[in-house]
Formats: sequence, structure tokens, C-alpha cells
Amino acid sequence: MAEILREGNLYHLRNEQVSYVMREMPGGVLAHLYFGARLERLNAENLLRRANVPADEGFSVQECTLDRLPQEYPSFGLGDMRDGALTVEGPDGSWAVDLRVEKAETLEAKPALEGLPATRGEGSAALRLTLKDAHTGLTVLLDYAIYDDCPAVTRSARLVNGGEAPLNVTRAYSLCLDMPDDGWELITLPGAWARERSLSRRPLAAGHQGVSSRRGASSAQASPFMALVRPETTQALGEAIGATLVYSGNFIANAEVSQFGATRLLMGIDERDFAWQLLPGASFQAPEAVVVYSAEGIGGMSRGFHSLWENHLLPGRWMNRPRPVLLNSWEAAYFDFDADKLVSIAKAAADAGVELFVMDDGWFGHRDDDYTSLGDWSVDRRKLPEGLEGLGERVRALGLQFGIWMEPEMISPDSDLYRAHPDWCLHIPGREGINSRHQLVLDMGRPEIQGFVVQAVSDTLKASGATYLKWDMNRNFTNIGSAALPADRQKETAHRYMLGLYAVMERLVTAFPDVLFEGCASGGGRFDAGMLYYVPQIWCSDNTDALCRVEIQCGTTMLFPPSTMGCHVSAVPNHQTARVTPLETRFATALGGSFGYELDPRKLTDGERETLISQVAFANRTQNVRLYGRLYWLQTPFEDNDAAWMSVAGDRSEAIFTLVRAMARPNAMPPLVRLAGLDAKRRYRVMETGEVFGGDELMQAGLCCPLPYGDAASVVYTLKAED
Ligand code: GLA
Repeated sequence: MAEILREGNLYHLRNEQVSYVMREMPGGVLAHLYFGARLERLNAENLLRRANVPADEGFSVQECTLDRLPQEYPSFGLGDMRDGALTVEGPDGSWAVDLRVEKAETLEAKPALEGLPATRGEGSAALRLTLKDAHTGLTVLLDYAIYDDCPAVTRSARLVNGGEAPLNVTRAYSLCLDMPDDGWELITLPGAWARERSLSRRPLAAGHQGVSSRRGASSAQASPFMALVRPETTQALGEAIGATLVYSGNFIANAEVSQFGATRLLMGIDERDFAWQLLPGASFQAPEAVVVYSAEGIGGMSRGFHSLWENHLLPGRWMNRPRPVLLNSWEAAYFDFDADKLVSIAKAAADAGVELFVMDDGWFGHRDDDYTSLGDWSVDRRKLPEGLEGLGERVRALGLQFGIWMEPEMISPDSDLYRAHPDWCLHIPGREGINSRHQLVLDMGRPEIQGFVVQAVSDTLKASGATYLKWDMNRNFTNIGSAALPADRQKETAHRYMLGLYAVMERLVTAFPDVLFEGCASGGGRFDAGMLYYVPQIWCSDNTDALCRVEIQCGTTMLFPPSTMGCHVSAVPNHQTARVTPLETRFATALGGSFGYELDPRKLTDGERETLISQVAFANRTQNVRLYGRLYWLQTPFEDNDAAWMSVAGDRSEAIFTLVRAMARPNAMPPLVRLAGLDAKRRYRVMETGEVFGGDELMQAGLCCPLPYGDAASVVYTLKAED
């Protein structure tokens, strides 16, 4: 049961798995006392002693005790010498803030965040702490929530100017988590285009370490995520604390080890490209932050995040629901197609049992390459003479659903839209625009542009009858400036962009509840909890090479469940790496998420086409377990030549096990892998071999997995409980 315990000046959020404890110090400073495994009872004196701070008499803000005090929402300049969560410039030009608790309220459930995605309120226990800075009149509402079923706490901060003068917010982070020691290693998920969410794990050092994105998107280069794990923590064992944001724009995450060896995690919008003017009476909502605790290793932390997203964030109507097996035209045709070619690809896909055909980029304006036409969302009749209507009908006549690609946030300089509205893009007057992939970014903060995008997407969906939309976003921000904002508010542009994008997504997913939206940003360049509030899945990477994909999917699932990753079998030689891998291994890897194809099935051999029929049937048969089961990484590709993972059904009656060997090893024993997550008392049949093993045997002695010869060999097993 999630509960909020209040004893005097202690606030304790707790469920069966975790406890989060705060304390109002004498004078009203809000201290953070504990986040970790559930505590039955606690002694504040003891928890504060860890920071060498007296609990009551003797605590004095004047004596710079703040520099040691673990805090919930600290600021810089009035005693705490560490980095803070909040900086606000007052009318006198100073920027220090001194927040003191004014009010504490237990709420029915956590309220929604105005204008921003967040975990939903149903089923939560929530606490609101109202803090005030007497000097400026600034009020900060800190909302905390905890659910029954996740080892997680969510929190957010809302700033309200209750003073008489305008305030300038120059930093308003979402999270401060003060830990009493530095005996941790730091995990982040750095990457690049085609190499998203790789693994970085390093010991904490004194001072600052962190990651950020100033690209206008959460980015392929850095995920808004940090985990602290003990040096001995593995996938299966040990402590892990993960933190992330429900936000898709610029962010910064920083871990600071203080002079006393305490660790402070800060996370929020990167203030280097941000400021917000707060007029008297106005408010600013910072994005939601989430922290997860696990004593069951990195895997336990990941499953904690997965259950939080699955139960409380992802669009509910898509959860536990089959996702159509799709074939996307991009790598099959790129820009070179007409209606007949697409229909003949779709026909071959339908013959294999594929359920959804997606027409990717190249169908609008005169887009024969990526130099042109973004913004001109009218069909190119040279390629599709019967329009979207005609093509949609022909595809549906094959028994397939029809899906379509758009990149609604963008504008090509060579477009009618740009010629009509040259000021609609992000730009700095008087400076030359910087193109990337020959395109500019629409200023999504402006209501008229939001209206245009909603109209364009709605018209496209209606005309085509599409039941799927791939929402792409293929460049990062430069020339950050908005024609709609005065000079002193230009630093609001990037966050206003996100608010505008979220408003557009909200309108569209509400208007088209049955359309499956898939996010994309040059692959997985905006793969975050903010987007996943609107879209149930995101194209995980433009890199479809099976071996690369094992790494990318391993990194991605540290934070997000398999159902959120678009994963496709593509052709060989692979278009990104030129590597040739067996069809079986490309299939085994793509089974790791929402399954589909990214190839021209007409170019396969007869034998391969036959194989596709059984692949699609297998993907469908197993998708409930694969997408919505509990995920265990048994061996990760970052540490091992043999990567192995399994998804286990909630009732442990079924599991799908996959092993992918990167490099062949001559004269070696077959891999032996200890499974996880099964019921030790039950017997399981490996359906592919017919053998039966005890659950305990599979988890303790392991499963021996003979592999075919060659590099990139793989095996997939279906395990079913016998009793
Ligand atoms: C991006 C996407 C690809 C494809 C192309 C089309 O790169 O990630 O999957 O849709 O755009 O231009």
C-alpha cells in the first residue's frame, strides 16, 4: 500500500518496496533524509547524523550548516556551496533564494502537470509541500507521489510569483537527490546517431560529473538518465538508484560529490539555454522527475522503471494490446517509388502475414530527396496519382492496414510553406539560418504553427485512412530564437517549443485514439518518458544491424520496456554497417521489441519468404510475453560476447529466451546461461527442443544453448510451464 506518513515535521512516502523521507528543519528548511528500501520506523536524529547535522537545537542556517544538510530543493548563495536546484533573479538583481516550508498537504492523488506529460494520478498517494521565499514572494509547490506497485517516487516543482515585481527564473530543476555517501558508480547512456544509448559506467569522483543535451531534444547523444550503483552491483544483485525526467527537450543531469563525500544528483532543464520571466501572479511548471530504487541490481531498477511507465505513463489504450507486425518502406525504396511499386511491396508483405504497411518519407510535395518539401503535406501526384485515398484503398484491399510517415515539426527552405512564412522557423533575425539535412525547425511554441501542424496531420490521417503514423524529427536546434517573443524572453524559446509540441500531440492523440503513433528522431534521437506519454512506441535506431541492435536495445531497456522499442528485420548487407548477419539473428534481435520489417520482401529468396511467414506467426504468438513480460538481461552485450535476455510472463507460465553470439568462437563449449525470473518450483518445456527442466535447475545450473556455426549466431527458445 502506498502511503504518506506524517509525524510532526517528518514526511515519509512509502510502499511495500521503498521509503522516501523528508524533514522540515527548525526554521522551515526542507531536508532530504532517506531514499531506499522500505523502512518500518526511523529516527531522524540518526539520519541527520550521517550528514553531521544536528536535528534540532544546534541546527542553524546562519552557521552554514546548509552546506552539509541533504536537501530537497536547494539553492545557491545562502550557505550551501554545492550546486543548487533553483536560481531566481529578483528585482534587486540578486539571485539567491531561501525557501522555507509554509504548508504541507496530503492530496487525494497526484495532480496533472499543466502543459507537461507526467505519470498519471490514478492510484497514487501524493504530498504537496508549499515553500516560500519571503524576500521575493516566490512560492514553490513541490508535489511528490508514490504508487502501490512500483519502487519509484515521482516529483515536480511549480514556481509561482507571489511578489509584486517580475522575477527571472534562470534555473528551475526538477530533481535534487542528496545521498549521504559517495560509494557509487555512475551509469549514463551516451550515444550518437545509429549508436543510441550505449553504456557508460564509471566511479564517482570528487566534484562534478554529468550529461546534458542542448540540442532541443533529449537526443541520441545523451539520455536524461543517471543511475548510481554500488561498485559490486550487477544486473541481478546489489543496489541501484535511477533517475530520469518526463521531458523531451534540453536537460542537464549532474552528480556532485561534496567535500564531505556526500553525493548530490541534480536533474532538470539545462539553464544554459533557458530563462523564464515570471510576472507577478504567473507560474512556471518544471518537468516531472522520477527516482527508482532497487536492491536487485540494475535489472531490478529497469523493471521498476518499466512497471512505472507501463502502469502509469504509457497511453493506456495500447498497453497489453497486440501491436501490428509492420513493414516499413524506407530501406526498401527510400525516395524512389510510385504507387505500383509500393503496392507490389505491400503485396509481398501481406503474403508473409504482415499486418500493416507503412509508407515512409517521399510521398509529398516534390520530395525526391531530402532537400525539399517538408511542410508541404500535399500528396505528390507524380508518384501517387490516385492520392493518399487511392493508395490507402489499394493497400487495404490486400488485407493490410495502412500507415504513413510525417515529419511535422520541420520546414524545408525549398517549400511553399517557407516561401509563405519565412518567419515560422526558429531563427535569429539578421543571422543566416543553419540547415541540417537541408531543413529548418518550425517554431512549435507559436499557436498558429501548432494549429497548422494539427491540421496537416489530421488531414493526412483522414485522407489516407492511416491507422499508424510515424512521427519523425530529423534535426537538432540551431538559431534558437522566436519571432513571437520579445528580446528579453528569447531564452524561453526551447521550452516553449516543447510545450507547443506536447499540446499538439495531446490534441492529435485525443482526436485519433485508434491511430498507433510511433515516435522517431533520426532513429532513437528523442527516446524519453515525455514522448512515451503520447506515443506507445519509438523507432529505436536507424541502425538495424543485428549486433549493433543488441547493444542499443540493451541500453534502451535499462530505462524503457520492450513494447516501447520499434525493432525491424532489415536486409543484408546492412545499410548502416554493411555487415551480413543471418536472417535468424536479425529476427531474434527484432523480437526484442515491437516487431516489423524494414526491407523489400520481393528481393528475398523463396526460402526466405517462407521463413518470413513463420517469423510473423511466431512474433504474433509470443508478443504478449515479449512486449509486456518482465525483462531480464542475463548477459549483456557490453560485457559479453554472448548476449542473452529473456522476457517472463507475469504469472511465470511462459518465457521467451534469446541468445546472440557476436563473434564465433572455435572449439568452444556451447554457451551455458543461467536463466532468471522463472518459478523455481515449476517444470518448463523448451518448445523448440521438447526438453523439460525444473525452473530451479534452469536458474541454478543453467541452460546449455548449442549455436549454429559462424558470427552473429543466435537461438530463441520458448519456455512453457508444464504444471
Ligand atoms: C529518419 C528516420 C528513418 C526514415 C528517414 C526518412 O532518418 O529515422 O527511419 O524515416 O528519416 O527520411
